Amino acid sequence: MENCLNVPVFEIISDIAAEKNLKAFVIGGFVRDCLLRRNSKDIDIVVLGSGIDFAEKVARRLGRKKLSIFKNFGTAMLKTGDLEVEFVGARKESYNRNSRKPVVEDGSLEDDQNRRDFTINAMAISLNKEDYGRLVDPFNGITDLEKKIIRTPLDPSTTFSDDPLRMMRAIRFASQLNFRIDDVCFASIRENKERLKIVSAERITDELNKIVLSPKPSAGFIMMETTGILQLIFPEFQALKGVDEEGGQKHKDNFYHTLKVLDNISLVTDSLWLRWAAVLHDIAKPLTKKYEPGLGWTFHGHEFLGYKMVPSIFRRLKLPLHESMHYVQKLVLLHLRPIVLSQEIVTDSAIRRLLFDAGEDIDDLMTLCEADITSKNPQTVKKHLANFKKVREKMAELEARDSIRNFQPPISGDNIQLVFNIPPCREIGTIKNFLKDAILDGIIPNNFDAAWEHMIEKGKELGLTPHLSKEDILRIENQNGTIESPSPSKP
Ligand code: CTP
Repeated sequence: MENCLNVPVFEIISDIAAEKNLKAFVIGGFVRDCLLRRNSKDIDIVVLGSGIDFAEKVARRLGRKKLSIFKNFGTAMLKTGDLEVEFVGARKESYNRNSRKPVVEDGSLEDDQNRRDFTINAMAISLNKEDYGRLVDPFNGITDLEKKIIRTPLDPSTTFSDDPLRMMRAIRFASQLNFRIDDVCFASIRENKERLKIVSAERITDELNKIVLSPKPSAGFIMMETTGILQLIFPEFQALKGVDEEGGQKHKDNFYHTLKVLDNISLVTDSLWLRWAAVLHDIAKPLTKKYEPGLGWTFHGHEFLGYKMVPSIFRRLKLPLHESMHYVQKLVLLHLRPIVLSQEIVTDSAIRRLLFDAGEDIDDLMTLCEADITSKNPQTVKKHLANFKKVREKMAELEARDSIRNFQPPISGDNIQLVFNIPPCREIGTIKNFLKDAILDGIIPNNFDAAWEHMIEKGKELGLTPHLSKEDILRIENQNGTIESPSPSKP
């Protein structure tokens, strides 16, 4: 196992262990990832003795002043290069059934390995001179790695009641690594799932995000559904499951459809929030579902209701409530627009409006819409993709001409006020909207000169008289340095 130890810090730890007559091992995720040939930046060192004292000695040897000490947990962490090395004394832990607060005692390496979550996470490599590089693997984690199995070292109900989050972790690792959860372990998750209620939303969501970010997230979602965890932590998603039939007509199962969209998008992006947009794009379908004789199943307004549901879901899951949430909301709201466009005769105006509404996120929206094509008929898929290609081409063409994506009104509200010598009032908004609509509808190009003429006309209509000339405004703006150079425009 020495090939896992070719980072200098291991030699230093080994030397200090020998000098102080202590035992030290690297354990957990680092060992697992090395055997899986995955890159890992987090190193966990377990010491038979005090982890903090040992870490202080290592820090001194490395000439490091900074060491983060977590007294309550008996751990210390230092950074070396891009690695984070955490030291902990070997422990024997038992948990109070109704709280996460462990009763901690010093223990042997074996005790420490017993209290870990999975066999593949309980392997240790010796850093001691007498057997440097020896794998200590009491639960045969290495075979589970080869067989791709997630299994607990002890009886799963013991391991899971020590920390119920481990039920989510089992599913997360299985999804991330494309492993299978051992049958006994899986049955135990089903049985003990309610214990997740004592775990904080933040910790659950950390795991959920890792499932969303796994190569094929549907695997994790299906495991969450089968074990009953999904219903507990994300009932809105669970509600997508199922097919109704009326008048001999069935709608598609939106649970599997959403998972297909999520898998599709995961092939082309690692962005957590774009993946979340896929998770949530049809979230309001169960609430808007209706059978309309003659029409079949409809989900009218699901994009709008979905947009409204996002904040409460984000809040409950303790996901961030600002930029990322607004981004997800926007994609949920707009996710049908490109599809509609690609089915109709596309007008420039409709494309400009979509560019305006999606702004910077237009490419992500198109990616979501392409992932949303889940038909099994290759001809249908081909047709939709060809239509989207046309929409994209048209967008590029209009964007080059009118730069709508980062739309800034060519004349600001302040300037409208100055020109007509009026206080802040409704007319300003009316003129601004009038100019915006004229640009989006292609009536005028997106530049100052065209907007000026249009503004004066609209002003007249509203009974307003200009008090300043175009040149006056340009001069004022140039002095303030606020006027943007006119957008490129073709006549
Ligand atoms: N561990 C555990 N039970 C938990 C969390 C962690 O037994 N609920 C143990 C496992 O041995 C795990 C190690 O602590 O390997 C480190 O935990 P962590 O850093 O959370 O996970 P990693 O296994 O390193 O994996 P990842 O970095 O992907 O989270």
